[in-house]
Amino acid sequence: MSDILIHQQGGVCTLTLNRPDKKNSLTSEMYAELANLFLQAQGDEQIRVLVLQGSETVFCAGNDISDFIENPPNSPNAPVFKFLHALVQFPKPLIAGVCGPAVGIGTTLLFHCDLVYAGDNAAFSMPFVNLGICPEAASSLLVPQVMGYQRAAQALLLGEPFMAEAALEVGLVNQILPPTELKEFVQRQGAKLAAKPLKSVLETKRLLKAHQLPQLQKRIAEEGEMFSKMLTEPPALEAMRAFQERRRPDFTKI
Ligand code: COA
Repeated sequence: MSDILIHQQGGVCTLTLNRPDKKNSLTSEMYAELANLFLQAQGDEQIRVLVLQGSETVFCAGNDISDFIENPPNSPNAPVFKFLHALVQFPKPLIAGVCGPAVGIGTTLLFHCDLVYAGDNAAFSMPFVNLGICPEAASSLLVPQVMGYQRAAQALLLGEPFMAEAALEVGLVNQILPPTELKEFVQRQGAKLAAKPLKSVLETKRLLKAHQLPQLQKRIAEEGEMFSKMLTEPPALEAMRAFQERRRPDFTKI
């Protein structure tokens, strides 16, 4: 079965991350497929709303660590950057449904979504420093904007997870639901949006977001350059090896 399931109903296209054995972590192939699906959804008149979700127990464990080692993104054309580009300029409403862990890009992509609904088991984390790397997806710009500087520093410097209630409080999440009810609720919200006058919806999203687009693209490129470099350096290599070997990383000799 595919790692990304696609379902379309009444103007709502739903992409479901479906790699449960690896906690829906994202490989280069998945980024490439997501980038294509976002571009297709953008151009398809039948699609008025896009939904991105995982399962009831996990949204996304971030980048696949083995893939990071074997296929590190080393140019602006790498699949992850194509995905981020498609995400940041996606012109139609984008709704996320998040249950369980949302790690790394599993959290940072949410700052680009229009509506985020979370199961009460959602746990958000951006452990870039713990992995010897730096923020991506313009999170160094958007996280302090949304959460305030000190909470952003806690999430990005300490890499501490925060739960659904905290995400609701800071405004990253619109509403919390029981995980068993989330998918149906998200579909209802999607259908509501799909029934509204399309031009009004698109124009409103454009007006909400367009002013910041150049800044976001610039930050994604700036972060991306440093991220790619740091990924090949000793601290990241030690952190990734430690994850694979199920041990704590040792940064003391690096
Ligand atoms: N890349 C590759 N494999 C991953 C992964 C990732 N990001 N996240 C989880 N997996 C794999 C594990 O290696 C394990 O595989 P195995 O069964 O073949 O050993 C499987 O998924 C289950 O993971 P496990 O850690 O046992 O599940 P858990 O429920 O205890 O914890 C997470 C879930 C998501 C909290 C935890 O797996 C985690 O922290 N993952 C790493 C997240 C990360 O650092 N991502 C990069 C961010 S930039």
